[in-house]
Amino acid sequence: MDINSLKKIAEDVLSDVSSCSSYEEIENFRIEFLGKKGLIREALNKISEFSIEEKKTLGKEINELKEKIEAFLKSKKDELDKRVRDERLNKEKIDVSAPGKYYKPLRPHPLSLVINDMIRIFTKLGFSVEEGPEIEDEYYNFDALNIPDFHPARDDQDSFYIKDKKLLRTQTSGVQIRVMEKKKPPIAIISPGRCYRKDDVDTTHSPIFHQIEGLVVDTQVSFSDLKGVLTLFAKEMFGEGTKVRFRPDFFPFTEPSAEVAFTCISCGGKGCPMCKGTGWIEVAGCGMVDPEVFKNVGIDYNKYKGYAFGMGIERIAMIKYRIPDIRLFYENDIRFLDQFYSF
Ligand code: DAH
Repeated sequence: MDINSLKKIAEDVLSDVSSCSSYEEIENFRIEFLGKKGLIREALNKISEFSIEEKKTLGKEINELKEKIEAFLKSKKDELDKRVRDERLNKEKIDVSAPGKYYKPLRPHPLSLVINDMIRIFTKLGFSVEEGPEIEDEYYNFDALNIPDFHPARDDQDSFYIKDKKLLRTQTSGVQIRVMEKKKPPIAIISPGRCYRKDDVDTTHSPIFHQIEGLVVDTQVSFSDLKGVLTLFAKEMFGEGTKVRFRPDFFPFTEPSAEVAFTCISCGGKGCPMCKGTGWIEVAGCGMVDPEVFKNVGIDYNKYKGYAFGMGIERIAMIKYRIPDIRLFYENDIRFLDQFYSF
């Protein structure tokens, strides 16, 4: 090796480096020339073969060449960095004059709003929320509620049977049985959910609808507690001025039983088309848990008493929001649903 061949190598190296166009190529060059086994190191190793004078000039030349290559590689890398950055900036360019995109936030269905209100009111009174299956055994939907086969009450609730004594539940009352089988008193639960009956569709009927069930069991429970709780619910839901009427009724699973009506919020009780001129709107059935039901779940009816109630959720929602037709709940017409939209 002499100075001239070194210069030749240097020229070749520099022209090669200038053609590098990727990080990988730059790195390969660095290893080839500046690495531990690279050409520069090799040249420095061979320097000992020369005379002192030659060593000096050669050493200087080699070091200059090394610095040149380093500087070249660095400028190449800076160039590449800039190119990559520019490309990214170009891609991420924001058009500040473009119109904004607006996505309507999800919002609850009016039935959900009412269910949430009910849960809020009853949990404040100490009730907890339970759920039961929509595909129910005949036993829970009817038998255990003291509605034996061929009982006329079954005819009022024309049912969708599946098979093997299973049906789509016609009422949420079956949850009472499931809860009493599972829990020991004191019990205070509500259970909202979907129910099914073979009803023809009209302004107030739908084969799929919602009920909320309530059940309280304890040693000291009376009909006046039931009246108190439903009255408080009515006032919380519809306003302080709401009155509640209880009239004797019959349900196989409660004795005595009552039908519950609230004063019509549309006319305040004076009489209007919504309440068919009566001033009252029937909203629920209720009563004291029948001893036969306690027997079926193994609760001592000499020691415990209970009350239960069942309310139609669509009914409450229709009154609260003055919705004239039950079908509106299920049609998913955005013009209807949008009216319950609030921030
Ligand atoms: N399940 C009854 C129905 O669908 C409503 C009902 C009445 C529920 C009286 C009750 C009750 O818990 O005590 O008509």
